[in-house]
Amino acid sequence: MIVFEHVSKSFDSLKVLNDVSFRLASGDILGVVGPSGVGKTTLLRLITGIIAPDEGSVQVAQGAVGYVFQEPRLLPWRTALDNVAVALRAQGMEKDGARVKAAEWLGRVGLAGFEHYHPAELSGGMAQRVAVARALAIEPAVLLMDEPFVNVDIDLKSSLMVMLQGLLAGGKTTAVYVTHDLTEALRLADRVIELQADRTVRELDLSDRAAVARDWFARASAQE
Ligand SMILES: Nc1ncnc2c1ncn2[C@@H]1O[C@H](COP(=O)(O)OP(=O)(O)OP(=O)(O)O)[C@@H](O)[C@H]1O
Ligand SMILES: [Mg+2]
Repeated sequence: MIVFEHVSKSFDSLKVLNDVSFRLASGDILGVVGPSGVGKTTLLRLITGIIAPDEGSVQVAQGAVGYVFQEPRLLPWRTALDNVAVALRAQGMEKDGARVKAAEWLGRVGLAGFEHYHPAELSGGMAQRVAVARALAIEPAVLLMDEPFVNVDIDLKSSLMVMLQGLLAGGKTTAVYVTHDLTEALRLADRVIELQADRTVRELDLSDRAAVARDWFARASAQE
C-alpha cells in the first residue's frame, strides 16, 4: 500500500512535485513516466522516506522496501551470491539461510552457476539481474525501480521485463516502475501516471493501451 495525498515538494525555489495524489493497494504496479527532471526519482525518494514532503502526506505499508537503481550498484568485492545475501543479512537472517535463499533468487533471475562471480566478471545485464534478485529476495512490501533497464540492450530488456512480470504476478508487493519509456510502463504496470513538465500529473486511461501508445508516439514525434 502506498498513498500520496496532495503531496508537494520543492527544492529551493523549484517546485518539483505539485499536489500529487494516488492510492496503490497491495499488489498494484504503478508506472511513472515523464521527461528528465520532472520529479520521478523525487517521487521514489518520498516513498522511501529519505526526503519528506513539504505539504501533504505519504503513507507506505510496513515492511521491507526493495530498490533497483538505473545501474546495479553492487559491492564490487563481493560475489553475486554475497551481494544478495548481504541484503538478507541486513534484515536479520542468519548466514547459512541467507546464502541458501540468495542462491535460490539468483536461480530465479537466470544466474544459476554464476554465484561466485564478482560484479566485474558479469555483463551489465547479468549485474542488473543480481540487483533485481537482491531487491526481491527480501520479499519487499514495496518495490521501487528507477529506470532499471535503461542500460541494457533491447532484447535483454525484453527478457528482463518478462522475468519481472513473472516475479511480481499475483504477489503482494506494491511496485513503482519509473521510466522515460511509456511502452515499458504499459507492459508492466496496472496503472500509469504521467508527470508533466508543467508540474501537473495525469493518470492515463489504460482501457485502450494501444490508443495510449499511439497518442504518446504522436506527441513525441510532434515535438521532434
Ligand atoms: N536533493 C536535491 N536538491 C536540489 N534539487 C534537487 C534535489 N533532488 C532533485 N532535485 C531537482 O529536482 C528536479 C527533479 O529531479 P528528479 O531527480 O526527481 O528528476 P527525474 O524525473 O528523476 O529526472 P531523470 O529522468 O533525469 O532521472 C530536478 O530539477 C533536480 O535538479
Ligand atoms: Mg531520475
